Amino acid sequence: MIPINKPILGNEEKEEVLKVLESGMLTDASYEGGKYTREFEAKLEKILGCKHVIAVNSGTAALHCSLLAIGVKRGDEVIVPSFTFVATANVVLACGARPVFVDIGEDYNIDPAKLKKAITRKTKAIIPVHLYGYPANMDEIREIASKDNIALIEDAAESLGAEYKGRQTGTLSDAGCFSFYATKVVTTGEGGAISTNSDEIAEKVTMIRNHGMVEGYDSRVLGLNYRLPEISAAIGLKQLEKLPSYIRKRRENAEYLNERILDVKGVEFKQSSKDRTHVFYLYTLSVKRSRDDLLESLKKKGIGASVYFRIPVHKTPLYSSLGYGSLKLSKTETAAREVISLPVHPAVTGEQLDFIASEFIKEARKLLK
Ligand SMILES: Cc1ncc(COP(=O)(O)O)c(C=O)c1O
Repeated sequence: MIPINKPILGNEEKEEVLKVLESGMLTDASYEGGKYTREFEAKLEKILGCKHVIAVNSGTAALHCSLLAIGVKRGDEVIVPSFTFVATANVVLACGARPVFVDIGEDYNIDPAKLKKAITRKTKAIIPVHLYGYPANMDEIREIASKDNIALIEDAAESLGAEYKGRQTGTLSDAGCFSFYATKVVTTGEGGAISTNSDEIAEKVTMIRNHGMVEGYDSRVLGLNYRLPEISAAIGLKQLEKLPSYIRKRRENAEYLNERILDVKGVEFKQSSKDRTHVFYLYTLSVKRSRDDLLESLKKKGIGASVYFRIPVHKTPLYSSLGYGSLKLSKTETAAREVISLPVHPAVTGEQLDFIASEFIKEARKLLK
């Protein structure tokens, strides 16, 4: 099976991990964190072109720390898309606040026009997601947020390296949240980071990832253990060096598929615009009909085609039980029915890519005629 995504690890990562093991310093519970963690943060600051990066142990932790840092609490509302991974909304619940789901636009990202209508006096924050590695419409979203003094937190879990008008995603708001889960654009196994240009948010997030402590056993604010282990940071350092080549390969692969596939009737690629660059964490198409039949036939051929996300967050059993089930988000529901992602990760070979394109075209023509 050609997997939809997979971690790509080499000798560089192995050697770096061995160094950590030999040092005996597997983690560091100080305010600043360990040597590898600090190096990892500095490297990411340089890549993103932002003032602060604070590494944590998952993308979920990054989102949760950010919401706690801006003071999201019971009684507050936080606007999120429903067409995302459930973590985007779960962190809102974890703060005791209420997620307010807003529909997406044509590009699968939150629709600024609908976002505007969802704002109330209780709205404390907005979390746009750069879905599949494609930037949301940040200018319009930022304008809406700043008009009412609402905090803006980017969920950039899938978009490391993507740019909006020449600026990195994750640096276009109060704080950006990244994930380094095993199959992300770069990985630390599990891991995450918060990027911010605000000294105040950086200081709070640094405390929050470590039980609110500054000098040890002096908890000043509510925090948890969200520290990144040193082995993970060491892997991440080597992965960040490879980021430009990973992105280049993903783009080449996606462009190849677009050239081969897009003249099939009923198939559409919806994430392109002159002012944004895509990192193709997922290369995703919409197919008008028979998506699941297409998925099954590709899987039978050994192509790890996948659907992100089949169930919008507001329709999951958890959120249905919280009363969101009857909410109507028509574009979200259409996308959940139509999207299909194909493998474009850097380890997909030219031969495999040709096979993916040929099989997709053959099956799609049969099913969509
Ligand atoms: C859009 C989105 N948000 C948040 C997360 C959460 O990241 P993590 O799995 O590292 O907690 C992920 C990935 O898993 C994601 O894809």
